[in-house]
Amino acid sequence: MEVRPGKVLLDEKEIAARLDGLAEEIREFYGGMPIVIVGVLDGCLIFLADLVRRFEMPLELALVKVRTYIDEAAPQKPPDVPMGELGGVAGRHVLVVDDIYDTGATLAALKSEITAAGAGSVRLCALLEKKREHEQEVHLDFCGFRIPDVFVVGYGLDYAGRWRNLPHVAVLEGYDETPPVV
Ligand code: XMP
Repeated sequence: MEVRPGKVLLDEKEIAARLDGLAEEIREFYGGMPIVIVGVLDGCLIFLADLVRRFEMPLELALVKVRTYIDEAAPQKPPDVPMGELGGVAGRHVLVVDDIYDTGATLAALKSEITAAGAGSVRLCALLEKKREHEQEVHLDFCGFRIPDVFVVGYGLDYAGRWRNLPHVAVLEGYDETPPVV
């Protein structure tokens, strides 16, 4: 079966409406306190761009590309967080923005590295959380949608570099294996 986007799980209107609510929750939580938003590349791109344009509060944006190791033959290594790319986070209130909480490895690594770098606080935000047993449980402070345990693409999420540009989130049809690392 050809691998391609199938059923639309979240359409543009649903996403936009939820982002309004999510932005409100975040605004209320921080109450005008200056924050550093750390976007997790590449999947956060579209979500982050749409989310931050709903804020008027003082914020700085930093982007980080986390490297995940997928090698079923080798012992699991934690994702590599290049903290050097982030500038200083010591004493700052950091909000990590990611596309999806799936295994939890990426968000767990970010939380622990940013905390170890002396941040004043570290909160986690993801557009999507998969309803599954996460290999690493984290507390999502802000969550857009909880979705079934299926591989999804669109609105920043890709399969082998494709379909990030879809305006909606769709289930990937014909997918039954670990995606290639691109
Ligand atoms: P975890 O939580 O497993 O997530 O550390 C790591 C990264 O994997 C990608 N990911 C997905 N990408 N559809 C995608 O397009 C998915 O269903 C999916 N699940 C995980 C994503 O980039 C996430 O940040």
